[in-house]
Amino acid sequence: MIAPSLLACDFANVGREIDSVLAAGADVIHVDVMDGHFVTNLSMGPPVVKSIRKHTDAVLDVHIMVTDPAYYIERFAEVGADSITFHIETTDEPMTLIRRLGELGLGAGVSVRPGTPAESLAEVIDSVDLVLVMTVEPGYGGQAFMDDMLDKITILRGMLRPEQRLQVDGGVDSQTIAKCAQAGADVFVAGSSIFRADNVGRAIDDLRLGCR
Ligand code: DX5
Ligand code: ZN
Repeated sequence: MIAPSLLACDFANVGREIDSVLAAGADVIHVDVMDGHFVTNLSMGPPVVKSIRKHTDAVLDVHIMVTDPAYYIERFAEVGADSITFHIETTDEPMTLIRRLGELGLGAGVSVRPGTPAESLAEVIDSVDLVLVMTVEPGYGGQAFMDDMLDKITILRGMLRPEQRLQVDGGVDSQTIAKCAQAGADVFVAGSSIFRADNVGRAIDDLRLGCR
């Protein structure tokens, strides 16, 4: 699955940007939420997702890079998120969050920063729908893909059941996507390589070719 990250889109035209990637075959829309604490950057909050929800029926995959995931899971559920991925580094009670996402009827994802080992997910991995391996330091788009995350992707694929998704996020382009696919990833988040391309449709086609 290809998941364009809105972080790299033209925010003056979010609706149009979403329409263009969906027309080009994007599978889900990836929404990066940053609180200025867990990461230094700020991005989108619930009102933005509320407007996006009114605009499209597409699956909204919300990645919360925030220090208070319990609070924001509620806020983004209210405005129509379909799945929410929180960071394992931000909570001592990941199972409580995963159970809550289940009660809310949302997909549950858990993410690891580059410095966080695969083993940190051992206790929760059976209970999630998706694991997200950050392949850059979270906070900004347009960074270079970290090749040394590939081993972690391989290890996590080995820990997951076939129906559980393994997502990669950061520096994914038509070249790096091949290594991720080979290591076992099956959901590819891409910001710059899609929205900064001259032709969004061709960029998505190139990503699909790259992971074949
Ligand atoms: C980074 C975000 C990513 C980011 C990816 O913190 O989680 O989703 O937007 O952007 P690119 O594809 O430009 O690396
Ligand atoms: Zn993301």
